[in-house]
Parts: sequence; structure tokens; C-alpha cells
Amino acid sequence: MWAELLPVGRSSASGGYRRHAWTGADADCRTWFQEQAEARGLTYETDRNGNQWAWLGDPAAGNAVVTGSHLDSVPDGGAFDGPLGVVSAFAALDELRGRGARFTKPLGIVNFGDEEGARFGLACVGSRLTSGALTVEQAHRLTDGDGVTLPQAMESAGYDPGTLGPDPERLARIGAFVELHVEQGRALDLSGDRIGIASAIWPHGRWRFDFRGEANHAGTTRLADRHDPMLPYAETVLAARREAELAGAVATFGKIGVEPNGVNAIPSLVRGWLDSRAADQASLDTVVTGVEKAAREYAAAHGVDLDVVRESFTPVVDFDHALRDELGRILGKETELRVPVLGTGAGHDAGILSDRIPTAMLFVRNPTGVSHSPAEYAAEDDCVAGVNALADVLEGLACT
Ligand code: GLV
Ligand code: MN
Ligand code: MN
Repeated sequence: MWAELLPVGRSSASGGYRRHAWTGADADCRTWFQEQAEARGLTYETDRNGNQWAWLGDPAAGNAVVTGSHLDSVPDGGAFDGPLGVVSAFAALDELRGRGARFTKPLGIVNFGDEEGARFGLACVGSRLTSGALTVEQAHRLTDGDGVTLPQAMESAGYDPGTLGPDPERLARIGAFVELHVEQGRALDLSGDRIGIASAIWPHGRWRFDFRGEANHAGTTRLADRHDPMLPYAETVLAARREAELAGAVATFGKIGVEPNGVNAIPSLVRGWLDSRAADQASLDTVVTGVEKAAREYAAAHGVDLDVVRESFTPVVDFDHALRDELGRILGKETELRVPVLGTGAGHDAGILSDRIPTAMLFVRNPTGVSHSPAEYAAEDDCVAGVNALADVLEGLACT
């Protein structure tokens, strides 16, 4: 499975993945998922929000145990963030069938659409729509960098955007969702463990800063006469770093748009996206308020207008304690491994669903901690340990 997925959406220039929602690479990932489901005799379906499901048993029976993750990527992402959870889900089912496990509950494998939000700017679109955290009206307004709306993109990929919307009946049939994911930090590497269990996800969000100045000639405009939005933008990037350091948080400007984007023109617009995350809400508020205040002062000093828009926000996620403890018991019993419990600053569909259904996450060791990069990596024997841990968990939750 891993070898089949590896070439899909991989850029030969960067070595990274460009599996963005509703593109050709995304379609190839989706075809792969459907083939895996059908090869195992599972019932395949796409839900009203374009998420893919594969079922062993009838989900209408209720109390289903679901596992899976996402197959899309950030721009030039790694091979593991998302796909490891989906591949491990199918591999864990194969392992359980090999063990002769008898399922007493329906088992589902899911590929949530557009988890990374690389194309439309909002992460976890598939799970947010399903849970109702994103309304249909908000989804219809999502637009990519080329002006293509989410409904248009879905339609050109052969999906009906008319069905988008909350799916409470589907969620009501799920008793537990367990997402396996490559760790996106070095906690397991440092503790010497292959597998961890998630405790919490930091609150996080994305804010768009639009600095509007005055386009002018780069050679003939006196410095004193300029309204150059690049200057307050640059000062704001530095302010974000300072505020994050002070609060023990993180803050990143990783995406920027410049108009007219000419070498010899002072820009008219600099648009930068702030991604900020902290262990608690108060620290995150301090960072974002501080960055915005500094940005307004810098903009005013340069005669530049500033608009700040919060594009998305996910509050702190404290994963279901009973399910987390259950995973700890199962893995403690089934394996010789110690299983540490870790928090993370990365967002996940499991976090979005956590206020609707009991959710849990398993992390697989990442020896460098690098993620959202072509250098993202996990060793094969750690991935196999992940599959076995997931199989143990599914057996404990869904089998006699
Ligand atoms: C998703 O991976 C995120 O944390 O932004
Ligand atoms: Mn990611
Ligand atoms: Mn992910």
C-alpha cells in the first residue's frame, strides 16, 4: 500500500507532496482508497461532504469503531502526515483478519477530505462540515488562490456540492474514532518510545493580515513619500516571533501574497497569514492581541491601512479521558511497550470530532520531528509497531 501511494502527487522538483483537495492528485488518492476498500470486500461509500468510508459490518447497527485519517497534504508535504493513518487502518484490519478476530461492532475506515486546508485556507473542511463546525454558507464562500470556489472545485472533481452539510446521523452511529498519526515533534524520540497516545491539542487558529499601501515606482519614489506595506508586514513578522517567545507559544507567517508582485514596484498590498498556537487559550489570546496591536502601530507609522480577519479557530481539545484510558489499558496489556501520553500543537480531524463523539489518537515516533516538509519520516519498524498497536486497540474496542 505504501509503495502504491508514494508516487501520487509527488513533485519531482521538491520531493514533496501536493495532494490538494479536489485536484487530480486528490482524485488518485481517492481511487486508491476505494480500491483498497473493495479489495477487502468492505462496503465503500462517499458521504455528503466528500469524505470516504469503508465498512466492515453495517454501520446502521450503531456503536461503530472507526479509524483512519486523511490523504491530502500541505504544499510540499511529507509522505506520512495523513496517509500513515489510512494505510495503517487497512493494515490493522488485515492483521486482525489474520488473527481470526471476531468483530462484534461495525468497523469503519475513513479518509477525511481536505484536512490540511492547503487549497481553500481552512483546515479539516470534511470533518468540520460533518460535525456542523463549518456551515454550508461558510463552505460555499471558501475560494482558492485562483478564485475557484469549493463548490466549483467539488463539481469539477465529479462530486455534488448540493449535498454539503452536517451529518449527525452518521456521527450518531460511531461509538469511538481512533486516528493514528505520525508524531509531529520529537517527544517519542526523546523518551525512546515507538508509540504514544494523545492527551490534548493546543488551541490554534489562522489570521489574515491585509496591509494596503500605495503602488509606486521602485526607482523614482523618494523613501519619505512611500506607503510601502512590506515594511509594517516585515515588522509584524518580527513582532509575532517576540510575542510567541514571551508567551511560550508559537506563531508563524508561512504564507504571503504580494500585489502587484513586481521586482521594480512598491507593493500596493501585502497579505500575510498568521498561524498561532499555544497550550492554553489565554496565552494564545495574548499573542494574537499583541501581534495585532503591533501591526496596527507599524501600519499607521507607514501610512498603510490594515485589516485583520480571523479565518479559522479551533479551541483546545482534551481527548475523551475514558477512551484514552482504555487505549492505555489495551496497549499496556497487549504490548511490552510503555505508552506515553502526549499533547500536540498540530490540528487533526480527531480534534474536530472530539466534541461530538469519543475520539483518541495514537502517535508513531518521528525520529527528527520534522513534518509538513518532504523530510518528514518514520522508520518502517515503528510504522509496523503502529499498525500492531492500532490492531490491538481495534480488537479491544470492536471484537469479542
Ligand atoms: C495540520 O496539520 C495543522 O496542524 O495545521
Ligand atoms: Mn498536517
Ligand atoms: Mn495530519
